[in-house]
Amino acid sequence: MINYYINGRRSLDMGKHEEADAADEAAETARGFDTLAVSEGEDPFGNGSEAGDVVSPIHLSSTFALPGLDTEMSLEDVDPDAGEFVYSRLSNPTRHGLEKRLAALEGGGHGMAFASGTAAIFTTLLASLEPGDHVIAFEDLYAGTRRMLDRVFSERLGVDVSYVDATETANVADAVREETAVIWMESPTNPRLSLCDVAAIAAVADDAGATFGVDNTFASPYFQRPLDLGADVVVHSTTKYLNGHSDAIAGAAVTDDDALAEELRFLQQVGVGAASPPFDSYLVGRGIKTLGPRMERHEANATAIAEHLEDRPEVTAVYYPGLESHPDHELAREQMSGFGGVLSFEIGGEMADAKRFLEALEEFTLAVSLGGVESLIELPAGMTHEPVPREEREAIGITDTLMRVSVGIEDVEDLIADLDRGFEAVARESASAVGDD
Ligand SMILES: Cc1ncc(COP(=O)(O)O)c(C=O)c1O
Repeated sequence: MINYYINGRRSLDMGKHEEADAADEAAETARGFDTLAVSEGEDPFGNGSEAGDVVSPIHLSSTFALPGLDTEMSLEDVDPDAGEFVYSRLSNPTRHGLEKRLAALEGGGHGMAFASGTAAIFTTLLASLEPGDHVIAFEDLYAGTRRMLDRVFSERLGVDVSYVDATETANVADAVREETAVIWMESPTNPRLSLCDVAAIAAVADDAGATFGVDNTFASPYFQRPLDLGADVVVHSTTKYLNGHSDAIAGAAVTDDDALAEELRFLQQVGVGAASPPFDSYLVGRGIKTLGPRMERHEANATAIAEHLEDRPEVTAVYYPGLESHPDHELAREQMSGFGGVLSFEIGGEMADAKRFLEALEEFTLAVSLGGVESLIELPAGMTHEPVPREEREAIGITDTLMRVSVGIEDVEDLIADLDRGFEAVARESASAVGDD
């Protein structure tokens, strides 16, 4: 028996071919992150091209000519790695290149690109759940995922869902039942930037025999690799950092589990049909090439802004895992290699003050979403998390003046000056209100 460690994971009992594959894979994973981001999945004389394209072309064709009629051929035998394609919902050369890149960056054997992050999450949950099953999820989840769990899985498909404060692993362990089939986490969360201990929860999931999924959208694989920490599957809204330019809606799922991958692929291609289209696949693949340098800059800017906000007297709280004041700062240092580009903060006063602040900004665009090169700001209580009932919002700390910032890669001095413009607008209004009295 040979024990191979590939990317921190062990695989046992390898035959001769597998040894060769493992050696290839080990050589593959020895390539650095930025090298894989630029070149994995690019194949100038493959991916359906004979012209030597340095960048994979956008293959718009919905169907592909077959060299001849092979009545013995089964769809399962079609091998995109060998340049074989039949129909674009099943596989497409542009999407295939992207899927290889996604798998390499998250350190899993199987990558799948979806039409949205929501489609990736839905398909992954569907692949792992049956009626009567139980899910444990972080209470501070992306609001859309929470609504999906409630309205589709719980109300229609007979799946019971428990939301827990997963900042304490014990709360996850206490919620485990015989029927627990999935544990679903985000770290850091949206919008409070709370963390959960991915490796500790992986151990709980292992004991429970449950599939452990992590939405890694906020950190991106550049700063966090949940599969290396023991997760079974990782998903992304690639709409965000992986694409990085706010011009595509897309998603991804990556796993090293062959059985789960088989089910995921079936659902992606046939059961749901939610695969990423060629043009969006091209855009996400192009965006990924600069993921590393972009994440470094997002983080440097976010750190400077978080520190500035901590010094402003109007600010009552700043949530950024890179700050020593963040309750999970030490955990962030252990399980992440950087802290990301999203932060949130609260100002004193009421929602009207937050509105005044937001409307005075000139560099930050008032918009939902995150992860693009441009800086965005939003008010979760009135925008992304507005559908969450007020009591639930307040229970997870989403107050009326909590603002979420996706820090872009602009000159940070301009961003800081812009935030100060917001504070001045609020101060002017308070001064004139006092004058009116
Ligand atoms: C953490 C997280 N996961 C999933 C999603 C859903 O992704 P998409 O909008 O690509 O469907 C979002 C969207 O904001 C998100 O923030």
